Amino acid sequence: MIMTISRRRFIRSASALGALTAYPGSVLAQGSAGRPLDILILGGTGFIGPHEINYARSRGHNVTMFNRGRTAPGMFPGIETLIGDRNGELDALKGREWDAVIDNSGFYPRHARLTAELLHGHVDQYMFVSSISAYGDGLSVGQDEFSAPYAVMDDPADESESPYGPTYGARKALCEQEITKVFGDKAINIRPGIITGVGDPTERLRHWLVRMVAGNEILVPGQEDLPVQYIDAQDMTAWMVRMLEDGGSGPYNAVGAEEPYRARPLLEGIRDAVDSPSTLTWVDWNWIRDEVSRVPSYAPWYGQGPIPFMQINNDRALASGLTFRPIAATASDMIANLSDGAADNLRAGFDLETEAALLEKWHAQAASR
Ligand SMILES: NC(=O)c1ccc[n+]([C@@H]2O[C@H](COP(=O)([O-])OP(=O)(O)OC[C@H]3O[C@@H](n4cnc5c(N)ncnc54)[C@H](OP(=O)(O)O)[C@@H]3O)[C@@H](O)[C@H]2O)c1
Repeated sequence: MIMTISRRRFIRSASALGALTAYPGSVLAQGSAGRPLDILILGGTGFIGPHEINYARSRGHNVTMFNRGRTAPGMFPGIETLIGDRNGELDALKGREWDAVIDNSGFYPRHARLTAELLHGHVDQYMFVSSISAYGDGLSVGQDEFSAPYAVMDDPADESESPYGPTYGARKALCEQEITKVFGDKAINIRPGIITGVGDPTERLRHWLVRMVAGNEILVPGQEDLPVQYIDAQDMTAWMVRMLEDGGSGPYNAVGAEEPYRARPLLEGIRDAVDSPSTLTWVDWNWIRDEVSRVPSYAPWYGQGPIPFMQINNDRALASGLTFRPIAATASDMIANLSDGAADNLRAGFDLETEAALLEKWHAQAASR
């Protein structure tokens, strides 16, 4: 039977946990910067851009955005918005000066080179939002920014793929190199892992939260002990803005928390923190694959053995001031911002009927073992 708990009760519980764990409530308004900066944000209206803008403004900085005007137009009526396209339509950036740029929208090396060359001499620091996908398949557990291998692609000039297509990581690596060629030690390359938090369009954490709000039994595939790294967009963007204030240089892995979470304690901890009556049932991934002809996406929860992309070294980011709120606070914020009908719009995982049938069979087999 599916039980439902009220969202209000769920949120109240999550907030209570936050108090116990010294949740600061918000990373906003934690003080102002010594000197207000003029910051250009390339791509301010997607997922992480609004977090950057809100934090930068709360620190007293002036923000200008540059984008095509397609994503969430009108989101920030009080902010100067320059319209153009990374694909060569950059006139709106000409003849202007900023202290720093944050580049959220660089996906092709040519685009990165064009903005870096145009802004050089007009902007002091160039912060590029890259990705841990810039690392290649040879990555091993615990590698840092300088020991990990870069992803590569056959033709670096190939722009035939969509931004997040298969060569995404190799293109991010090439973008970093283009920007560093132009800006030298004034280039800052942020390499995030899985970013989550309010506005996260993916279900990498939201899936579990929506299911916990519903309150029924939840099938969790794969390894209970799997190390996983999540970073809250608020934590990451606040640290990025503070780094522009203090100065930074080179690459930084942006992954959380201090140590990777473990799958089971992470999900059960969130479940308990938010007082959800859900039970979480871990089901062997190979058993699932034998039971169904097509397995849905559950990234990053399944797999065999360690996943190096979930155990990246973050010492450099920690040393430069990256801090993390409790993950229960992230979960609480996300639940408070769930859209109506969120449960009906899940795309990851099995549909509820299939999941219930699998769970029934799994329990029956466990009972007969
Ligand atoms: N989400 C994650 O877990 C994750 C992990 C690692 C790295 N990252 C990196 O983080 C960055 C930001 O991610 P996000 O999820 O916030 O991005 P997003 O939601 O896709 O937002 C992209 C922003 O860039 C603008 N934009 C896109 N294409 C453009 C173009 N050709 N010219 C000008 N503006 C353009 C968009 O506005 P318009 O559409 O109006 O142009 C929007 O404001 C990306 O570089 C991504 O690779 C994300």
